[in-house]
Amino acid sequence: MPSRVLATAFVAAASAAIALALPAVLRAEVDPEHGRQLAYTCYGCHGIPNYKNVYPTYSVPKLAGQHAEYLTLALQGYRSGERSHATMHSHAASMSEQDMQDIAAFLVGQPLKPGALPMGNAPAKAAELCVACHGPDGVGITPQYPTLAGQHADYLERALRDYRDGGRKNPIMAAFVAGLTDADIRELAAYYAEQRPALTTAKHAMWFVEAEKPGK
Ligand code: HEC
Ligand code: HEC
Repeated sequence: MPSRVLATAFVAAASAAIALALPAVLRAEVDPEHGRQLAYTCYGCHGIPNYKNVYPTYSVPKLAGQHAEYLTLALQGYRSGERSHATMHSHAASMSEQDMQDIAAFLVGQPLKPGALPMGNAPAKAAELCVACHGPDGVGITPQYPTLAGQHADYLERALRDYRDGGRKNPIMAAFVAGLTDADIRELAAYYAEQRPALTTAKHAMWFVEAEKPGK
């Protein structure tokens, strides 16, 4: 079967699965102000531009402008162990469902950095396998699909290898990266990292000053 047909079938199946999972994710009310307070502990890593994870070394992901529903799903993945990162597991394990949604609602309030699109030539594999969900410009086409545009290339590479090699067990992504070589992954990561409008590092300093305001 040509891979485009296969991809279309996967997209249909994945969309159906996600639609079923939706009611658990959506909540009537979210409280971004509560999220801002909780995000205090997160900014030690996510609020510092180009901050690195160590052993192995790669950039801590940018969160500002990411889809709120995706952020919640990602945190649930760390909590359940579907994603294997130990520090993020311990953070997520201590959070309630509401905490996750409140933090996500706070982070999503920070807009994508604007810019022209698309930048450069998309690798053939992107058109074949990725744009159906992540868009030609790397902006996820539904709130459950992450935006990749402007994300650190080394983080995108790390995530793609984890989907391929089992560090992340998401079944949708595992299917799409199974046949990718390290060179494919590097090329795709570099392409999406260059796209605009772009994710940014959540603004630590501004957030901190705001938190210090009397009455807040
Ligand atoms: C010690 C540094 C550190 C702290 C503190 C931290 N994180 Fe993370 N976070 C990371 C790293 C590193 C990753 C990438 C993990 C991986 O490879 O999956 C990550 C990944 C994430 C992701 C997934 C992003 C994506 O694009 O999929 C979310 C969401 C997230 N963190 C939210 C939080 C929140 C909310 C807090 C605070 C409660 C927090 N993090 C605290 C280092 C940290
Ligand atoms: C059927 C829709 C779909 C297709 C097609 C798809 N993805 Fe994804 N992608 C997702 C979903 C859903 C997630 C979130 C998975 C999770 O919870 O870990 C994701 C996550 C990712 C992440 C992790 C982002 C982060 O912030 O951690 C990267 C990188 C990624 N995809 C790149 C790609 C690339 C490159 C391709 C093509 C080879 C591709 N995806 C094809 C749906 C898709």
